[in-house]
Amino acid sequence: MFDAFLFAGLPYAAVLICIVGVIYRFRKLPFGITPRSTQFLEHGKLRWAAAPWHIAIIPILIAHILAFVFPALWQTLLASQVLLVTLEMVGIALGVTACIGIAIMLTRKVIAGRLQAITGFKTITVLSLLFVQVLLGVLTAINHRWGGLWYSSTLAPYLWSMIKLQPDLGYVTALPFIVKMHIVGGFLIILLIPFTRLIHMFAVPYEYLYRLPQRVVWARPQSLAMNSNAVRMIDARRSFIKSAVAMGVGGTLLSFGVADKMVRFFGKPEIEPEEETALLATRLKRLKMTAEEKELELERRSKDYILIARLSELNDKKGKYFIDYEMHPALAFMFADGFPLLISAKCTHLGCTVGSELDANGKILCPCHVSYFDVKTGEPNPGAPAKARLPHLGWVIKDNDNNIVAHQKPGSSPEGSFDRKRADQYRLFIARQYQPESV
Ligand code: FES
Repeated sequence: MFDAFLFAGLPYAAVLICIVGVIYRFRKLPFGITPRSTQFLEHGKLRWAAAPWHIAIIPILIAHILAFVFPALWQTLLASQVLLVTLEMVGIALGVTACIGIAIMLTRKVIAGRLQAITGFKTITVLSLLFVQVLLGVLTAINHRWGGLWYSSTLAPYLWSMIKLQPDLGYVTALPFIVKMHIVGGFLIILLIPFTRLIHMFAVPYEYLYRLPQRVVWARPQSLAMNSNAVRMIDARRSFIKSAVAMGVGGTLLSFGVADKMVRFFGKPEIEPEEETALLATRLKRLKMTAEEKELELERRSKDYILIARLSELNDKKGKYFIDYEMHPALAFMFADGFPLLISAKCTHLGCTVGSELDANGKILCPCHVSYFDVKTGEPNPGAPAKARLPHLGWVIKDNDNNIVAHQKPGSSPEGSFDRKRADQYRLFIARQYQPESV
C-alpha cells in the first residue's frame, strides 16, 4: 500500500502538479520564473558552487533521460565494457562534483550574512533536497554498480508503465532502499518545481549563445578605458560558454564512442525492394515468435503442473534451472534428506539470475553485485547488497502413472513418500496452487 503511494500516487500527483503549476506560472507570473541573482551580494563562493553544479548535473540528467527514452539503444551501447566502465566513472565523478557544488551553494546561503536576509525556508529546503538527492545518486552508483545497465532494465520499464497508465510496481518494490529513496526524491523535486526557483530550468536563456553581442558604448574615453577589462571579460565568458557547450556535445558523442552505431540506428539505409521484402518477412517472423512466446506464457500459467525434471536428474551440488509460473528463473536441487528443494533464482537485489552451483557452505552466488544466498533458508549473507531472501517454491512428485506421491507447500514440511532408489521413475513439478511463499 505504502509502495503504491510512493511509486504510483506520488509520481502521478507530482507530474500533474508540476505541469499545471509551470503553465500557471508562465502565464500569470512570467517575470517570476528566473531565480533571483545573488551574485552582487556574494560572488566568491558562488563561482565554486554554481558552475560545478550546473556543469555536472546537466549531463547527469541527460543520461537519465536518454536511458529512459531509448532503453534498447542504451543497452546496446553499454554492451561495450569499456563504455560501461567509462560511463560509470564519469557518472560518479560528475555526481561528486554536483554534490560539492550544491553543498557550497547551501553553505553559502547559510553562512553569508548578506544572503541570509533574502534566503527563505523554501530555498534551503530545495537546496537540501537536491543535495540529498545527488548524494543518494552517488551512493547508489557506488553501492549498486553498473547502474547504467540496470537502470534501463528496471527503472525505464517502470517509468514507461507509468506513462502508459498501467503502473507496474514490480520493477521497483524489490529495489534496495537507497534506490527507492532516490526515485522518491526525484518525484519530490518534480513536485516542487512550480513552487520554487527550480522553475528557472524552463527559462534558460539559450539565445545568449547565438544572439549578437550587446555592448555598452562608453561615450567618455575615461569610462571606456575603465571598462575595457569588463568588455573583454564578457567576450571571454561568452567564448568559454560556447566552447563548453561544444566540448560537452562533442565529448558526449565521443564518450559514447559509437557514433556509427547511432547513425545506423537512426538512419534509414536505402534498400532494394527484395531486401525490403526479406526484412518485412523477418519482422513478421519475429512478431509471430513474440506472439507465440506470449501464448506459451499464458498456456503455461493456466497449467496446474509444470514439469521440471526427473528426480534422477537432480543433485545437491548444482541446481537445475527452470522457469516458474511468473516466467522467472528458479533452481531445483535434490538433497540427502531425499526431498527436492526449489528456490527462486531471481536475485532480490536488482533481479540478476543467481548462479546454480552450491559452494561449500551451501550458498549460491549472485555474480552481479556479489550476494550469497543460503539455499536452505534463502537468506542473503550479512552485508550483501541483497537484503531480502530468495523465496522457496512448492512442488509435487508424480510417479509414472501420474499419481502424486509427495508434495510440499511453500513454507511447510514435505509430505508423502516414494522409492528413492528408483528416482528415474518419478517426475518433479511445480504446482499452480503452490505459488512461492511471500518474502
Ligand atoms: S543483482 Fe545485485 S546482488 Fe544480485
